[in-house]
Amino acid sequence: MLKLGVNIDHVATLRQARYRGMERGEPDPIAAARLCEEAGAHGITAHLREDRRHIVDRDIVALRRAVRTRLNFEMANAPEIVGIALSVRPDIVCIVPEKREEISTEGGLDVRGHEAALRETIRRMDDAGIAVSLFVDPEPSQIEASARVGAGFIELHTGAYAEVFHRKAERNRELERLVAASEHAHRSGLRVNAGHGLNLENLPLLHLVPHLEELNIGHSIISRAVFVGLERAVKEVLAAMEGYGGTSRPSADA
Ligand code: PXP
Repeated sequence: MLKLGVNIDHVATLRQARYRGMERGEPDPIAAARLCEEAGAHGITAHLREDRRHIVDRDIVALRRAVRTRLNFEMANAPEIVGIALSVRPDIVCIVPEKREEISTEGGLDVRGHEAALRETIRRMDDAGIAVSLFVDPEPSQIEASARVGAGFIELHTGAYAEVFHRKAERNRELERLVAASEHAHRSGLRVNAGHGLNLENLPLLHLVPHLEELNIGHSIISRAVFVGLERAVKEVLAAMEGYGGTSRPSADA
């Protein structure tokens, strides 16, 4: 079954818009995580950015206590954040590139260019019993590098697919790249998650990408929740994920 991890960063984004620097404030990302789990989400994802623009340190500690499903801690491979991950002990970390000027994580991680540093972090996470996923573009060289450094999972960056979704030829090309990347990763012994820019409109075609275990979705769920509430927003996405077979091939007319 395809699982859903809800990224709750943007609940914290809203809180920080008014309560930055304060010890409390609304909306509370921990309460949001509980609601997502009650609505059927299989995991909660949160990104402690180095600039602490949304999730802050106390959120991660509180999430570790509150999350009953699976806590996925998104992080840059930076010494301070690695130390926090090792002390908080999420179920899995997803290592992402981080640039201060970006609005959200933009491109995938350059695994090939940072093999030694990633291998070291993966070794430390392994020793602590924390699974590791690497957020990568659907590029053969990055997938091969992910297998070489010993990651258990990759998360395929679906941002390019989401961005060109309304242009059929480009969308089919991006879909083919995701299919090929997922097959390549699976053959290399990697487990495959995916995320970024996914929504109710572009989810159905993603069913054509094989071997997916989990989707991480944030922005579209939190946005929809403004109008229909978090519980319904999560349930709508779960319904759109139902029936995923994981083995079909896209047709050119998809
Ligand atoms: N996966 C990763 C690795 C991300 O960095 C993000 C964005 O924080 C997401 C998934 C969720 O993307 P979106 O908010 O566009 O659904």
